[in-house]
Amino acid sequence: MPQTYIKELSKHVGLSVVLKGWVYNSTNKGKLNFIIIRDGTGLCQCVLFKPNVGDEVFQKSLQLTQESSIIITGKVKEEKRSPGGFEVEIEKFEIIQIAEPYPISPKDHGIDFLSENRHLWLRSSRQHAILKIRHELIRSMRDYFDNNGFTLIDGPILTPAACEGTSTLFETEYFDLGKAYLTQSSQLYAEASAMAHGKVYSFGPTFRAEKSKTRRHLTEFWMIEPEVAFADLNDNMDLAEDFLEYIIQRTLKNKKSELEILERNTSFLEKVKKPFPRISYDDAVKILHKKNIPFEWGNDFGGADETIISQAFDRPVLIHRYPSVVKAFYMKRDPENEKLALALDVLAPEGYGEIIGGSQREDDLNLLLKRIEEHKLPMEAFNWYLDLRKYGTVPHSGFGLGLERTVAWVCGLEHIRESSPFPRMIHRITP
Ligand code: 4AD
Ligand code: MG
Repeated sequence: MPQTYIKELSKHVGLSVVLKGWVYNSTNKGKLNFIIIRDGTGLCQCVLFKPNVGDEVFQKSLQLTQESSIIITGKVKEEKRSPGGFEVEIEKFEIIQIAEPYPISPKDHGIDFLSENRHLWLRSSRQHAILKIRHELIRSMRDYFDNNGFTLIDGPILTPAACEGTSTLFETEYFDLGKAYLTQSSQLYAEASAMAHGKVYSFGPTFRAEKSKTRRHLTEFWMIEPEVAFADLNDNMDLAEDFLEYIIQRTLKNKKSELEILERNTSFLEKVKKPFPRISYDDAVKILHKKNIPFEWGNDFGGADETIISQAFDRPVLIHRYPSVVKAFYMKRDPENEKLALALDVLAPEGYGEIIGGSQREDDLNLLLKRIEEHKLPMEAFNWYLDLRKYGTVPHSGFGLGLERTVAWVCGLEHIRESSPFPRMIHRITP
């Protein structure tokens, strides 16, 4: 008989099925042994009645520990009191392994212990729900771009130069060719691809040797990066807004029960509908000053500043036109004010901070040459990138959305570490 998954039990009421999984809990009451089994798709109570299986099998079942692996065959019936709404009356019962005492018990554990045991912690219902939501977000992001005329073109992970500043580069020796760096962003490659395909996106792991030990920073995270030829800053903002509304509304619709497991209050997420407020950097600084924050024009916003700015709004806020001194070399300057870059950040509500960073790109060859010099970047490494401004340069724009920050926001997590199956931070590279 083929394996049935717990999620599908409603289709098998009255029939015999085979369930394969792990013991979540088991309780003995006389001739009855109640075993709750977990199979990755849900939980189901299975009842072992001594006269049905015989003395020997029943005795063995009493030795089951949490996480023991088992295969059962039994008849499905509806049972409101069972988690999931169905119960299986066991007819046949096979133990694959009686598990050793499981280190993660229902009592509270410290975060260090849980992080050290991440490979096991993944089995708990909260972590399970978070990764289901992460998967839905990934699928909705891909579907959005796939259904809107974008071509997926991923950049390389080993790169010859910095994209987002030299202070956060991971470097490695690269044969006889000197140093290579783990990519901080696929943007430069997405720009080249946009000149070939018009609308493109890349989606992959990116790396930042961040010294910052905050609840928003990982050293390895996934970024999805659209890039569009013939798009200006306003087009870029329209795209960011439409994209965010789609992925959030779809995840709310498709992942209701997981959000319930997380006890997520979704009222803010439900409001993620167009149009979002759009304010300039100058306006954002005014918000801080009104709250008596001694913020100096020309600095970048810190996490605490972002929280205060976003609290002024009930949905994500787009902030545009930042001082060029705090932004990357490739951003186009505002024709109306040389000191500003045509940059765009999106701050999530509820204090989750920046989830999107992007801009219109500098499309003029000479200005770009000047910026590379000003930023003291190695010109040789950018020759190919400069070619894009020689052979049919066009206005173009794009952005990057950090997957893990988005997952943390949607799930309402206190710390970004739970948004990644195996997070990498300055003080953790295991398991
Ligand atoms: O703002 P960032 O640095 O922008 C870029 O890399 C652009 N080249 C993207 C582009 O225009 N194609 O990063 C983009 C997003 C941030 O808004 C944030 O969500 C996420 O990536 N991010 C991080 N997430 C987790 N840990 C970190 N250390 C992150 N750094 C950035
Ligand atoms: Mg940024």
